[in-house]
Amino acid sequence: MRSAILSALTVSATAVSAVTYDYIVVGSGPGGGPLAADLSRAGYSTLLIEAGGDEGLNPTYDDIANFNEAANDEATRWDFWVKHSDDPVRDLKFKHNTWDTGAGTFYVGLDPPPGAKLLGIQYPRAGVLGGCAMHNGAVTTLPQDDDWNVIVNTTGDVSWEAGKMRRYLKEIERNDYLAAGNPAHGYDGWLSITAAPDVSWAKNDNLTGTKILKEVARLTGQDVSKVADLVSKDILEDVPNRDQVTSFYNMAQHSDSKGKRSSPNNYVRATLAEKKYPLTLKLHTLVTKVLFSNSTDGMAKAPPRAIGVEVMEGASLYRADPRSVPGGKGPVSQIFASKEVIVSGGAFNTPQILKLSGIGPRAELEKFGIPVIKDLPGVGERLADNYENSLLALANQTVDLPGLITMQFRTPSAVGKNRNFFTWCGNFIFQGFWPGFPGFAGPTQFTCAMLHIGPKSQSGSVRLRSADPRDVPDINFRFFEHGGAADLHEFVEAANLLRESWLAAGAPAAPFEELHPCPGRLAKGRAECSDAAQAEYFKTQVYSHHASSTAAIGGDNDPLAVLDSKFRVRGVNGLRVVDASAFPVVPGAFPVLPTMMISRKAAEDIIADAKKAAA
Ligand SMILES: Cc1cc2nc3c(=O)[nH]c(=O)nc-3n(C[C@H](O)[C@H](O)[C@H](O)COP(=O)(O)OP(=O)(O)OC[C@H]3O[C@@H](n4cnc5c(N)ncnc54)[C@H](O)[C@@H]3O)c2cc1C
Ligand SMILES: *[C@@H]1O[C@H](CO)[C@@H](O)[C@H](O)[C@H]1NC(C)=O
Ligand SMILES: *[C@@H]1O[C@H](CO)[C@@H](O)[C@H](O)[C@H]1NC(C)=O
Ligand SMILES: *[C@@H]1O[C@H](CO)[C@@H](O)[C@H](O)[C@H]1NC(C)=O
Ligand SMILES: *[C@@H]1O[C@H](CO)[C@@H](O)[C@H](O)[C@H]1NC(C)=O
Repeated sequence: MRSAILSALTVSATAVSAVTYDYIVVGSGPGGGPLAADLSRAGYSTLLIEAGGDEGLNPTYDDIANFNEAANDEATRWDFWVKHSDDPVRDLKFKHNTWDTGAGTFYVGLDPPPGAKLLGIQYPRAGVLGGCAMHNGAVTTLPQDDDWNVIVNTTGDVSWEAGKMRRYLKEIERNDYLAAGNPAHGYDGWLSITAAPDVSWAKNDNLTGTKILKEVARLTGQDVSKVADLVSKDILEDVPNRDQVTSFYNMAQHSDSKGKRSSPNNYVRATLAEKKYPLTLKLHTLVTKVLFSNSTDGMAKAPPRAIGVEVMEGASLYRADPRSVPGGKGPVSQIFASKEVIVSGGAFNTPQILKLSGIGPRAELEKFGIPVIKDLPGVGERLADNYENSLLALANQTVDLPGLITMQFRTPSAVGKNRNFFTWCGNFIFQGFWPGFPGFAGPTQFTCAMLHIGPKSQSGSVRLRSADPRDVPDINFRFFEHGGAADLHEFVEAANLLRESWLAAGAPAAPFEELHPCPGRLAKGRAECSDAAQAEYFKTQVYSHHASSTAAIGGDNDPLAVLDSKFRVRGVNGLRVVDASAFPVVPGAFPVLPTMMISRKAAEDIIADAKKAAA
């Protein structure tokens, strides 16, 4: 018999909620939102706590085409100002460094006005019901099989075998782009996934876009005569050796075929609307820490047990929120869970919440006077992200391309056999994040966005700046710390390949004036900027938005493991982490679908444990 001792809580003068829930889930993003809905649908009383509000019916969020506006919107924006390295001189070369010029105004660039205060590199997150799935580009891909299998290798838990993970996609998916009955897909889940309904443009050889497409096919060894079929290929297909295939695909998004965003927001609201599940949603509430009690297990002393959370109520309390005011505060209270607390605050906030609760590297906690519940050195470490950048040019005339060229491919020097790039090319601009992104270079702008899969370095960190839960932590990605030269070489290979394909465009789109990374007129035989110059460009200019691994699953003998394979925080009871922090490596090209898949897996694990305990 385990009995929680509630007497000696660290905070005793605060209000205590009259209701005790079975589960408390902190954060309603792709990790926490669906999990809370699933737990309540299984009959367990569940409290979902979200710092932000609900923008589900706001067209800025609901219409997927507005994703860039959504990510800039002050109604939900959380600005994290991050570092890319320990070298301030290197970071100052980043073109979109942001400076505070007072009264809520920014300067973005390399030549700040006198008196401007350096903020750093903007890394947007969404503080809102549904988390970053409410402002993201909604691109859905599966991780590489290795990204799942590595968990089997380190923990011995075969439930993570790649072949067993597709089930979670099928359970959550409501496929909106393939005829019913495709065995690789689900049709009854809560997450609509769609893809471009019409990619027939690729059949028209007159289009400049098709000329470029065919040249990319030629350069990557694909069948040039089949490009029109390849561009409609299912990006979530289930084929052997998928990770080794270089191919075009039809990009998929978590949206329905009418362009309405589909996200945990919809699932949580639908679960509440049915009025028959014990789900309680608390918006505009910042979780400030997890509460623990010492517990006993028979005669033996058991590890501390998570018994609830402390919260501060009010909108915009967190200082990443541009609307937060100095000294802003709200009433503090405690809410209790009889079974478990699940932290799903995302890759920046989850480690912060754990540390504020006394779970993290001892020295860091002691520095801020936080009583240590469990010394776990991996909390906030191993931060990793996919490197991203783009080729950007101005065409002489808008490129005829009524869609996107989407491709996953392998560059020649990639380690191993797996493809290492995701690219999408078209008449758009994407150069990373800053207040006001993405910019506009003119109606003839043409981009190939490049996303490097599988960074060799995972040396980033999320560390406390203070013990105040409203303060934003110090985030440093330490890009390229390990294997940097190899990753940069792969990046240059990808850029050179894609740039070469543009030479096939011909008039009237050509000539192209490249804006970056190699400014100048594109021409055959042109003395391009050197590979070394491009590598230096990418080293200082890559950006990212797929942060993961700051509370990672790992094996018993891994000193930096934070979770076991069932998402349980090591060394304490009743506490799990379910969000992008849990991945030991960045999951493939795009993390949002994998995060929703592990949310489903975690629901299954948690419900199984509850049934076992009740039996
Ligand atoms: C601009 C942008 C574009 C992106 N585009 C894509 C894309 O196209 N495809 C893709 O796969 N991925 C994309 N991503 C990444 C993807 O959206 C994230 O990986 C994913 O949302 C992570 O889910 P999560 O549950 O881990 O965290 P989050 O989505 O960050 O959710 C965490 C939630 O917890 C809440 N929270 C945090 N702390 C507290 C607290 N103390 N108290 C209460 N609530 C709290 C937050 O408000 C938030 O709602 C993008 C990300 C960004 C920022
Ligand atoms: C897992 O271990 C097996 C056997 O050692 C190895 O062949 C495989 O490459 C490993 N996979 C990953 C993803 O680490
Ligand atoms: C392509 O151009 C040729 C020559 O101008 C024209 O005859 C043909 O109809 C065009 N094809 C399409 C699909 O537009
Ligand atoms: C738990 O036990 C430790 C010592 O074992 C003690 O220092 C701490 O105050 C106790 N905490 C609670 C909440 O009872
Ligand atoms: C660019 O296009 C214009 C017509 O829009 C044409 O007059 C001009 O010659 C083109 N420039 C080049 C360098 O081909």
